Amino acid sequence: MPKGRILIVDDESGIRSTLRQILQDEGYAVEEAESGEEALPLAIHGDHEVILLDVWLPGMDGLQVLAKLKESAVPAEVLVISGHGTIETAVKATRLGAFDFIEKPLSLDRVILTVSNALKKRRLEEKNLILQERMREEITLVGESEAIHKLKDQIRRAAPTAGRVLVYGENGTGKELVARLIHAYSDRNDEPFVEVNCAAIPTELIESELFGHRKGSFTGAIEHKKGKFLQADGGTLFLDEVGDMSLTTQAKVLRVLQEQTFEPVGGTETLRVDVRVLAATNKNLADEIIAGRFRQDLYYRLNVLPITVPPLRARASDIPLLCGYYLTFFARQYGRPPKVLGREATEALLRYPWPGNVRELRNLMEWMVIMVPGSEVGVGDLPIVAGQMPASSQESGLPWTGPLKEARETYEREFIKRALARHGGNVSRTAEELQIERRHLYRRLASLGMQKESDHGHDQ
Ligand SMILES: Nc1ncnc2c1ncn2[C@@H]1O[C@H](COP(=O)(O)OP(=O)(O)OP(=O)(O)O)[C@@H](O)[C@H]1O
Ligand SMILES: [Mg+2]
Repeated sequence: MPKGRILIVDDESGIRSTLRQILQDEGYAVEEAESGEEALPLAIHGDHEVILLDVWLPGMDGLQVLAKLKESAVPAEVLVISGHGTIETAVKATRLGAFDFIEKPLSLDRVILTVSNALKKRRLEEKNLILQERMREEITLVGESEAIHKLKDQIRRAAPTAGRVLVYGENGTGKELVARLIHAYSDRNDEPFVEVNCAAIPTELIESELFGHRKGSFTGAIEHKKGKFLQADGGTLFLDEVGDMSLTTQAKVLRVLQEQTFEPVGGTETLRVDVRVLAATNKNLADEIIAGRFRQDLYYRLNVLPITVPPLRARASDIPLLCGYYLTFFARQYGRPPKVLGREATEALLRYPWPGNVRELRNLMEWMVIMVPGSEVGVGDLPIVAGQMPASSQESGLPWTGPLKEARETYEREFIKRALARHGGNVSRTAEELQIERRHLYRRLASLGMQKESDHGHDQ
């Protein structure tokens, strides 16, 4: 692999061959053109990273070529070379977007150094573009289920307000994604979105993380530190796993929410910020309050606009869409040919309960893009099939032909049966997990012919 791809544009063949020689010795792949007219199509259709461009060319001159390159959004960095280098030409070239300017007679060391700097810049920009692309990719909420439409609607309603949102949901359902979308659709979207994972930071450090600290305020505080609240000033602070904050930290956070002011650890000055707080939890905060681990007043402050992200198994129709989305996404990211899921594989994934929700699905698709050979993923390629999924539709007893109503009921029966089993037959707790009322669950059990004598109303 060459170290980089370079195009030399100069009408003097002596200069072209000297440059070619030293650059090839450095390990670059080199192409040449002797005029602007010849260079432009090469540059526009080629994949050069650096273009060495002479200013004095017969026909179209170097600056005109430079302007055309920029007009056509050629991503290569341009180094302008001139035998009659005047400051004005240099300034003009830089204004037109040249990376740097080299004068003739050429110092070969300088050529090598400048080319290498230009390449570094080019690579950094490429990396940034990829990162930006990734950011853009990952901020879309994929799904067409009713649950996802409802979620999108709630996000759109909550985003433009200043209201605090508490996002509930199991692991990997997309709570952080929802928080990022709320920020992205709010009028704070030009300001920072700052995330704090309250569960990942040791209790002793969380206050300094949130509020910052003054140098020397505790062992290890060797510099002043700006806390997350200040970093998020004007923007949004996302308190992830908020149920894991200690009671003392909760008291301090409560004060910021009430007064928008706080003091850094070890500091005496009071800082004022304008921060919208979003929070997320996978704990049941009502239980935490009863257990004395979460402040009720903080709960009311945070829980102004509650949003629940449903688990993936409750919106199975999104599974094929998410699989397709992440198969395409990772194929592009790894530069691999696209893959599709075979019918049986799709069916197996539809039956799988996805305890790790979308994160688990995303990881599985990444694994497939890298590890599964061929363009179609078969049921035998699925690592989870063997362990946790019923191996075939026969085993799960689900019908794949016949009337939709029957299929739906068979599925619902199986679904409720498993949920009941998870809760040892307790209807109240099962109803809570399924997010329906207990009475409603009883009615469903009856109409699906699942009601046992012993079930009549006594499940506590
Ligand atoms: N509807 C969706 N469409 C596309 N990607 C999604 C969707 N939901 C979640 N994801 C992706 O799944 C991964 C997990 O989502 P996220 O980190 O938001 O979940 P979480 O609920 O915060 O998880 P945890 O509780 O583990 O912190 C992320 O990569 C996210 O981009
Ligand atoms: Mg999260």
